[in-house]
Amino acid sequence: MRAWTVASPADEVRLSEVPPPTLQGGGVLVDVLAAHVPAYTKAVVRGNRGGLPVPLVLGPSCVGRVAAVAPDVFHVVPGDIVLDTALLDAGGGDEVLVGWVGLGGSGAGSERTERMRAVWRNGVFAEKALCAKETLVKLPGAETYPDPVRLAFLPWLGIAAAGLRAAGPLTGRDVAVIGATGQLGGAAVLTALAAGAATVTAAGRNPEALDRLAGLDPRVRVHRLTGDRATDAAGIGPVDVALDTLGATPTADATLAAYDSLRVRGTLVLVGGVRQDLPIPYGDLMHRRLTLRGSWMSDPETVTTVWHLVRSGVLDLTAAEPLKVGLDDPAAALDLAERTTGLDFVALVP
Ligand SMILES: NC(=O)c1ccc[n+]([C@@H]2O[C@H](COP(=O)([O-])OP(=O)(O)OC[C@H]3O[C@@H](n4cnc5c(N)ncnc54)[C@H](OP(=O)(O)O)[C@@H]3O)[C@@H](O)[C@H]2O)c1
Repeated sequence: MRAWTVASPADEVRLSEVPPPTLQGGGVLVDVLAAHVPAYTKAVVRGNRGGLPVPLVLGPSCVGRVAAVAPDVFHVVPGDIVLDTALLDAGGGDEVLVGWVGLGGSGAGSERTERMRAVWRNGVFAEKALCAKETLVKLPGAETYPDPVRLAFLPWLGIAAAGLRAAGPLTGRDVAVIGATGQLGGAAVLTALAAGAATVTAAGRNPEALDRLAGLDPRVRVHRLTGDRATDAAGIGPVDVALDTLGATPTADATLAAYDSLRVRGTLVLVGGVRQDLPIPYGDLMHRRLTLRGSWMSDPETVTTVWHLVRSGVLDLTAAEPLKVGLDDPAAALDLAERTTGLDFVALVP
């Protein structure tokens, strides 16, 4: 079969002919229908986000159709449409993202995560994938969903929803998304609207992306980030919940502006890719009774909830626009992904 592979740490992504995967215990063979190519995939392949377990078939998550299941797999059957979340969790902080970078817990990995990555290494940027059963969530009714390619956005919606969920119920609350102009941020805006937020403040730099978000719903307010912490805090808040979905930023100022924008008893959730330390004043956090949370990836219950919101139309997935690519030219696809953000995303349809 055809797949996007990375052979070594210095290698680029290549289109390769590889043997199709065969079933192994705890595994599910999936025909890949569509896979989101994250905007920062090039940075992942170049090693800027941690080590890939090379050689491998790249690709963290997809929507697929189950082709066959190992005898010890019971929650899905051939013909089911499933979402692969990539997250394989052995407990105790030993978690890996199959086909991608990223380790749970301290992020340092362990002898156990090494073994997990040896058994479950290959991802989903391919015609077929062998997925660990724990990474798959069934999407009941998705067989008749009119536009399955759009469902490739579900993993990002699930990650955004898990982050928002960490702040408690959103109904009637004022929510801000920092980095709303990115794909994870756009997913968070859609999710917060569907979850009944009173207002959703979309904060980001890209004015076109902000305009598009403003057009989604009268509850959306926008704030164009200035880079000045005090100005941004005043423009974002006051809010009950702030979700940080920023990419790698040179300073923590936008995240700290989100912290400053919280009301008393507010919650800041970190889900983005900021690699900065946050100086949090002890007395301020205590007196304002704030909560600071982190959230990583998603979980089956959250994915199922998001899918039902999409299926029922409460979450309008037509707002997110897939740009379809095939397997033929991985370099061009990664270039396109890098240029594509906001509510547009690149969907690989092998
Ligand atoms: N916690 C998790 O489970 C999880 C899962 C997936 C991804 N992530 C992380 O989430 C991050 C965002 O992913 P994505 O798919 O949304 O990426 P993306 O589409 O590239 O979005 C990046 C966002 O960061 C903003 N940004 C980048 N540099 C900035 C700067 N210097 N100042 C202010 N804003 C800046 C962009 O703003 P403009 O476009 O307006 O310039 C955009 O809103 C990634 O870095 C990834 O590591 C985390």
